[in-house]
Amino acid sequence: MLIAASLVLLHRDPKHSGLVSKTSADLCAGMLETHSSQTRFFLKIVQQGWFRPVARLIEGITIPGILLHYALRKKCIAALACSALNDGTTQVVTIGAGFDPLTFELHHDFPSVRFWEIDHPTTQRHKLRALPRVSPDRLHFVAADLNATALDKEPLIANGFDPTRRTFWIAEGLLMYLRADMVASLIRTLNSLSASRSQFVFTFMEKNGDGGIRFDSQSKLVDRWLRSRGEPFLWGATRSELVGLVGPWRVIRFLDHNDLRRLESRLADESIAKGEVICLAQI
Ligand SMILES: C[S@@+](CC[C@H](N)C(=O)[O-])C[C@H]1O[C@@H](n2cnc3c(N)ncnc32)[C@H](O)[C@@H]1O
Repeated sequence: MLIAASLVLLHRDPKHSGLVSKTSADLCAGMLETHSSQTRFFLKIVQQGWFRPVARLIEGITIPGILLHYALRKKCIAALACSALNDGTTQVVTIGAGFDPLTFELHHDFPSVRFWEIDHPTTQRHKLRALPRVSPDRLHFVAADLNATALDKEPLIANGFDPTRRTFWIAEGLLMYLRADMVASLIRTLNSLSASRSQFVFTFMEKNGDGGIRFDSQSKLVDRWLRSRGEPFLWGATRSELVGLVGPWRVIRFLDHNDLRRLESRLADESIAKGEVICLAQI
């Protein structure tokens, strides 16, 4: 919900509106509108011009640069997905999709591609309620708690997923919430479901010097808030640990806050949260 609200906020900010498409912002607003009376109220506030400096203040005392990080992370992953789809990939599976609007945008732009979203049942239930009308033949939803049991292939296959076709897998902002053994198990399962030249884009928290799993600028307030929500970060890795862990996937590249900044030269002076890295891997 916070990510959805951030996208609505940035889209309405004249300085950053170009980072978030109107379709994306509208879909996120739709999620907040339907979720509950609290999120409906929150949406109304986020849409007010006077709230922008308040949001900056809140960002400053929690995780400076997190709003731009979310928007640029999404922009980067969307570009990688489009590039794979333009290159002949015909299936996209988003794991831990949350309220992310990417599937809907791609679904509209690539009419011959099929999509699946896998998410925790609690999150997915809300998304399904807010869902815009989409073709049920090309978009499927699978509910799974990935910390409770390994990803089950059967519901995907039963919903038309074809392991012999090239797939683009996305796990954005998910793996830090899973235990290390479940991350390893998920990577193995995706490998067993992936045809040659399939790609996997995911984000991970890069362990800092003292082995901590957090954004560099993250305040203690956020640590406490994540714990109280039952959403502490459980897993992180260094880049070299990750290269070993994802095998037989081959890491094509890592993209960090510096790479994200390069996507938008006019943001040179703005802070972008550091700590979560995007990894693109291929089989
Ligand atoms: C921070 S949100 C990211 C959402 C979206 N990918 C994005 O970047 O906007 C984390 C997502 O991970 C999912 N998630 C967390 N723990 C999970 C679990 N144990 N099993 C399945 N999904 C989980 C949540 O339901 C949520 O969709």
